Amino acid sequence: MANATKPRATWSGKLAFVLSAAASAVGLGSMWRFPYLAAKYGGGTFLLMYLLFVFTIGLALLLLETSLGRKTGQSSIGAFKAFGKKYAFIGIFMSAVPFIIVPYYCVIGGWVTKYLFGYVTTAPDVLADGGTYFSNFIASGPESVVCMLIFMALTYFIVALGVNKGIEKANLVMMPALIVMAAAVAIYALTLPGAMDGLAYYLVPDVSKFSPELVIAALGQTFFTLSLAMGIMVTYGSYLEKSTKLTSSVTQIAGTTFGVSLLAGLMIVPATFAALGSGEAVAQNSGPSLMFIILPQVFQNLGEAATIIGIVFFVLVLFAALTSSLSLVETCTSIVSDGTGWSRGRSLIVTIAYITVMGIVVNLGYSSLSFVQPMGEGTSILDFLDFISNSVMMPISALMTCIFVGWIIKPKTLVDEVRQSAEFKLAGVWSVVIKYIAPVVLVVILVAYVAQTLGLFSM
Ligand code: PHE
Repeated sequence: MANATKPRATWSGKLAFVLSAAASAVGLGSMWRFPYLAAKYGGGTFLLMYLLFVFTIGLALLLLETSLGRKTGQSSIGAFKAFGKKYAFIGIFMSAVPFIIVPYYCVIGGWVTKYLFGYVTTAPDVLADGGTYFSNFIASGPESVVCMLIFMALTYFIVALGVNKGIEKANLVMMPALIVMAAAVAIYALTLPGAMDGLAYYLVPDVSKFSPELVIAALGQTFFTLSLAMGIMVTYGSYLEKSTKLTSSVTQIAGTTFGVSLLAGLMIVPATFAALGSGEAVAQNSGPSLMFIILPQVFQNLGEAATIIGIVFFVLVLFAALTSSLSLVETCTSIVSDGTGWSRGRSLIVTIAYITVMGIVVNLGYSSLSFVQPMGEGTSILDFLDFISNSVMMPISALMTCIFVGWIIKPKTLVDEVRQSAEFKLAGVWSVVIKYIAPVVLVVILVAYVAQTLGLFSM
């Protein structure tokens, strides 16, 4: 292994690990993606499916990745290679995913930064103009690039401080702050007139809303929010001491992620319902622009409170985005370092250079490069990267990992690893999920995605 002799960073304890993994998980996926998916797919029904997936396949894969990382002490490429050179390709494939996600993640981080500045410096009605503000901004070239660079600079700064002094400390402050703010905004949102009907829409499952698309969306969301299938949890596991209990850690990580997603939905869905009047209207209007176009209009209806709610809301989304982008940059750095044997500093510089250049390209996808429409009329480079990573590469990577552990190295190898620190009563169930259930579900999803891409049904 390239860096077998280099001392490896370690978490300062179980809390630091759980917090950092939860911080990676809780991000734009929970704050921005989950509410619009829930709003779109009939509220309660989507929530229930997501709950089911997080605590079955999500949890099983979290345990798999963290235990694989801890067993081998390597990030993804090294972890697979540890069982034979011929398996390194799984790690390489998986490692490509964060490199694809991080540039566009920072672009959206830049949008959040812009909206925060917007609420601080201008009247809330300027942002609530039905979409012109948003489209002008993303098409502005230099301005959106600058916002992205500010977001990136914050991320790089924290990562450069290192695992203990940077990432752990930042998460220790930002995560609790985020949860408190989210709870406060959610409580406030629920007191708005009409919000109770919206709450029912959000929480009560309606069987008639059930559809294959919904199931696929819920599973994709599970991967994305739990930061699975891209080597992040392998890397985080590799920083663990053998004494840290894995089973309870992963349960806490999944629980926190689900809890924050639930809160994010509570902040957004009932209030949007109250503003738009019906579930159908909510479903029709929701999509990636929910947070940037519809939500400012919801805030605008609050009158005096709009500015303060806007600021608190975008601060908390910014925190969530930052703690996740940290984990992406950290993982990319660790992959470069393990792969080349370079020092952490040098690897970080190379990673930063790559992300910055790619981020600019993604950004220009809305202005000077807008003629690049990889997935057809009206699509952007960002849409393409999101699709390729979430819908194609992550399911494939998860499938390969399950087959690798379930059938090649055998679940017992990792069960033994988990048992080094604690009892693992559900080892039998876990093995069945990894060997049979997860692969079958993943194949179904992949086939469904292909069908969708070929236009057999729409999402
Ligand atoms: N889990 C993060 C979120 O929900 C996104 C993310 C994906 C972070 C991949 C790291 C890696 O926003």
